[in-house]
Amino acid sequence: MYMMKGKAEVIVGMQWGDEGKGRVADAITPKSDVIVRYQGGANSGHTVIVEGKKYIFHILPSGMLYSGKTCVVGNGVALDPDRLFEELDELSSQGMDRARLIVSGSAHVVMPYHKILDQFEESKGLKRRQGTTEQGIGPCYVDKFGRTGIRVCDLMHPEMLRDKLDYILGLKNQIITRIYDEKPISFDALYDKAMAWKERLSLYVGDCSKVVAQALNEGKSILFEGAQGTMLDIDHGTYPYVTSSNPTCGGVCTGTGVGPKNIDRIIGVAKAYCTRVGEGPLPTEDLGEKGQYLREKGREYCAVTGRPRRCGWLDLVALKYAIRINGTTHLAITKLDVLSGLEEIKVCVAYDCEEKRSEEYPVDTHILSAAKPVYKTFKGFSQDMSEVETIEDLPQVVRDYVKFIEDQTGVPVVILGVGPDRKETIYRETQ
Ligand code: GDP
Ligand code: IMO
Ligand code: MG
Repeated sequence: MYMMKGKAEVIVGMQWGDEGKGRVADAITPKSDVIVRYQGGANSGHTVIVEGKKYIFHILPSGMLYSGKTCVVGNGVALDPDRLFEELDELSSQGMDRARLIVSGSAHVVMPYHKILDQFEESKGLKRRQGTTEQGIGPCYVDKFGRTGIRVCDLMHPEMLRDKLDYILGLKNQIITRIYDEKPISFDALYDKAMAWKERLSLYVGDCSKVVAQALNEGKSILFEGAQGTMLDIDHGTYPYVTSSNPTCGGVCTGTGVGPKNIDRIIGVAKAYCTRVGEGPLPTEDLGEKGQYLREKGREYCAVTGRPRRCGWLDLVALKYAIRINGTTHLAITKLDVLSGLEEIKVCVAYDCEEKRSEEYPVDTHILSAAKPVYKTFKGFSQDMSEVETIEDLPQVVRDYVKFIEDQTGVPVVILGVGPDRKETIYRETQ
């Protein structure tokens, strides 16, 4: 039977990443049994703050902080074993490695040459700069689709791996030495590293799709935790200024092996404004003092690279597009507190594009790059919201703002972030 007894929900970024997916995943985890990452890799930084203590997850699902959970790194993830082990060691040194971990044998491994190539592509001026996180994500997924990738299961077969690596490293070293004029990577050092990874990864390796199906058959709840965001999706984002995976909901099926009919709720996470790191269009970007205010008040600095995030106003044209692409059933709006202290709050409701006003998001990045946002303006407010526990206690203008988002999108807002800490979360629905 393909319809299973358990519940499955997805957390997906509605903007350009860093929407607060980590804190929303942490808010939902208590009622989930299994938490699965389905794409991306160490390019992500998901922050969870519990009683002032900050945890940043890169590859591990944010559910690792809870005991009794099963956390899975899905087949769609680009897995850098060194970064995974660093995260595990850090959590265990704090006594917080509480969940059981399973790593899909089908996940592709980010190899040292992927990271080097990502850095060269960004820095040597032969390719257009993307502003990547230089974690080797693009080159790893290129090899996956070029069928020259190394998967976690390959590490478990040393002799086969030796042949495969010998051939692939030969190709990579040609690029490194001939195109980038740099020193080749040593085969022996790479093979030794792969064997060390094998030792430790063999403790966790498993079949993601099977774990998910078993859990659903037992009536358990699954949470699929997306990385990046819709506007960074390789198919639906602002191509070519995107990441190399599918953060959108379709990525859940390919990245874990779950059937689409088994997904019950799709929770889209959006900030109350917009941010972006790296190159590419951000129509509502504010390069003036309002953008600077949002950056400083919202501490908008990348959790992976430390780069300042570009900031601007909430873009409802892009949000409605993201809702369409993902079939978003519920919204979580984070960082409402950051809007406090502004004289006015703007929301983009349409674009002026090629001399026409439109509420439709243009998928052509050239057209999007020239789009001029049309704003609706809300009055500002100055109240501190950190102690607010229900939506009724929020300043009226914030309630109006949330209601406006719901009316425009037709999607209910069920989680509100009014501060970065776990306790600064307002739930509007208990199921
Ligand atoms: P993710 O990649 O989507 O998980 O988001 P990040 O963790 O990269 O970035 C979100 C940042 O905003 C983190 O520093 C969070 O601690 C912080 N944050 C999340 N929700 C809120 C909120 O409601 N209010 C405030 N002030 N900060 C928040
Ligand atoms: P989380 O999961 C924000 C951006 C990079 C760059 C582009 C491509 O924390 O939301 P990549 O290294 O993926 O090849 O870079 O995508 N980017 C992110 N921006 N949050 C992220 O993840 C991101 N992961 C990648 O800045 O513009
Ligand atoms: Mg992040």
